[in-house]
Amino acid sequence: MKIIQASNYTDLSHKAANIISAQVILNERSVLGLATGSTPIGTYQQLVDWYKKGDIDFSKITTFNLDEYVGLGKEDVQSYRHFMDDHFFSYINAAPTSLHIPNGKAADMEAECTRYETLISDAGGIDLQLLGIGHNGHIGFNEPGDAFEKCTHLVALNNSTIQANARFFHSIDDVPTHAITMGIKTIMQAKKILLIANGSDKQNILEKALYGPVTPFVPASILQLHPDLTVIYCYEANASSSKNKESSC
Ligand code: PGA
Repeated sequence: MKIIQASNYTDLSHKAANIISAQVILNERSVLGLATGSTPIGTYQQLVDWYKKGDIDFSKITTFNLDEYVGLGKEDVQSYRHFMDDHFFSYINAAPTSLHIPNGKAADMEAECTRYETLISDAGGIDLQLLGIGHNGHIGFNEPGDAFEKCTHLVALNNSTIQANARFFHSIDDVPTHAITMGIKTIMQAKKILLIANGSDKQNILEKALYGPVTPFVPASILQLHPDLTVIYCYEANASSSKNKESSC
């Protein structure tokens, strides 16, 4: 496990973007696992900046996002598909058909989970998986529970996640109660994992995840067992604000 302390959110974003960029430069056909949330926004902005300068080519990458809310689609501004278009996909030269996100509007959720898992294995698995961490230790939407869920599955979001995500919706009642997420096995099969955490509010859970017992009650704790995990963190800025990009840690 490599643990890197960033000096501020800009530094964290720059370091994370550097690792993703190196992955794509070394293998232009990389399969990237991508994450949403406020933490990776600066990483995507940095990658877009480098793309615009001609420093990186995304034309041959394939991507798989971790998760999507059930009931939301591309047209819904709170959907993760919309988030990815807004922060990354619209600005780069990746082939639209190579950018995968679970379909939150699928008629048959079980079939959608199987389809998504099959797509990932057909692509040869994920080369580099980007992850954030929730305040309850979730990765993707793998919520704390008594067992590690293996493959892509339908999940009921727990209250702390619904409350944390309410900031993106008009009211807490609008936050979807279910999501499709890659499972722990799907994530752990990625060849490399890059976990980013920003803000003092993440310190407690990140320390539990990295140094505490491996337990499904802290889903991110499983990452201790991954052979190629890099963690970049900055504790002193407020993670809740992507506008806080320039604030020092
Ligand atoms: P955040 O979310 O980046 O908005 O803090 C992380 C997560 O819940 O995975």
